Amino acid sequence: MSYLETVLRRAPAGVPVAADFETVERPALRAPAAGELAVRVIALSLDPYIGPRLRGRHMGEPAPAPGAALPGFTVSQVMSSAHADFRAGDFVVAETGWAEQALVRGDLARKVDPAYPLSAHVGVLGMPGLTAWAGVTQLARVREGDVFSVDAAAGPVGGTAGQIARNLGARTVGIAGGAAKCALVRERYGFDACVDYREADWADRYKAACGAGPTVHFENVGLSVYGKVFPLLQNYARVVLCGLAEHYGSDGPPVSYPLGPIVGKRASVLGLVVYDFYPRLAEWVALGGPWLLEGRLALVEDTSEGVASAPAQFERLLKGQHLGKALVRIGADRV
Ligand SMILES: NC(=O)c1ccc[n+]([C@@H]2O[C@H](COP(=O)([O-])OP(=O)(O)OC[C@H]3O[C@@H](n4cnc5c(N)ncnc54)[C@H](OP(=O)(O)O)[C@@H]3O)[C@@H](O)[C@H]2O)c1
Repeated sequence: MSYLETVLRRAPAGVPVAADFETVERPALRAPAAGELAVRVIALSLDPYIGPRLRGRHMGEPAPAPGAALPGFTVSQVMSSAHADFRAGDFVVAETGWAEQALVRGDLARKVDPAYPLSAHVGVLGMPGLTAWAGVTQLARVREGDVFSVDAAAGPVGGTAGQIARNLGARTVGIAGGAAKCALVRERYGFDACVDYREADWADRYKAACGAGPTVHFENVGLSVYGKVFPLLQNYARVVLCGLAEHYGSDGPPVSYPLGPIVGKRASVLGLVVYDFYPRLAEWVALGGPWLLEGRLALVEDTSEGVASAPAQFERLLKGQHLGKALVRIGADRV
């Protein structure tokens, strides 16, 4: 049977918008060749890196041509398999494109545990959750007594990072854009405090919430936040540099900052690339999965319906208008 796929209609200029995409009908998939799987897509993960990636500005990877499969990971179910490690019915995470169905290489697909909510495998138990775990436990090595702050705190990386830090005994302070996001961060994610950085006096309220200052700061946004945070760090603070979302639409020179406070505070700045930690994903799932089932890790998703809704949902993500993990629901969990 034919199926739908969303592709680029034209190369985006700056931050992508919904009008850059179109949804087309594809003919029925052929049978999988040796080593391949034919999958039906359940949920597509939309992530901030896809914006720069579509313009060839992410980790040296080329921009996809208009009409070609788009970058993006999904949780999917195997319909038929020509790879010895998979069989029909298995659930996998794979880069399928923004499509209802796809052929993928079995050696690039990862089987996931259906005991957990399936969509969580591309969210809090998938790449964004692994990023949070890596930054909090492997780079910053958060421990009881730390004062942990994070921005984009309502999102799957920032929100999960704060919940991990809280579960490890840190005091947690979130920074997020807007009252609804701050309410989510405090009430569902259980942070001790959250400040809305759209308010003029946010830096004063952040300072009050942190007491003596953060011992760990996890950065996801960019200069407008860390420019205020760095001077407030405690001595010997650890800073995880994870993302610079507010700069992803820019083709200009790299973001700069007067580095005096890093020297003065004897701070360590730790760059994070999640790719380094994929071999350790099972460690995070073994810790975070039970937390999810016990309610010590929240599953908050912002989901649109159907592959044709992906462009508008992606535009919302890139404008920061979503609440929680941005997803597109493409198929039922079970058929
Ligand atoms: N280093 C790595 O390996 C790695 C891996 C995964 C993710 N990341 C990074 O981690 C960060 C968070 O990822 P996520 O998936 O959890 O995303 P997210 O928080 O769901 O979405 C990004 C958030 O960035 C904030 N933001 C600030 N200025 C923005 C702007 N000008 N345009 C768009 N958003 C803006 C918005 O939150 P507010 O409204 O609260 O500001 C927005 O909701 C991103 O920077 C991402 O690129 C890095």
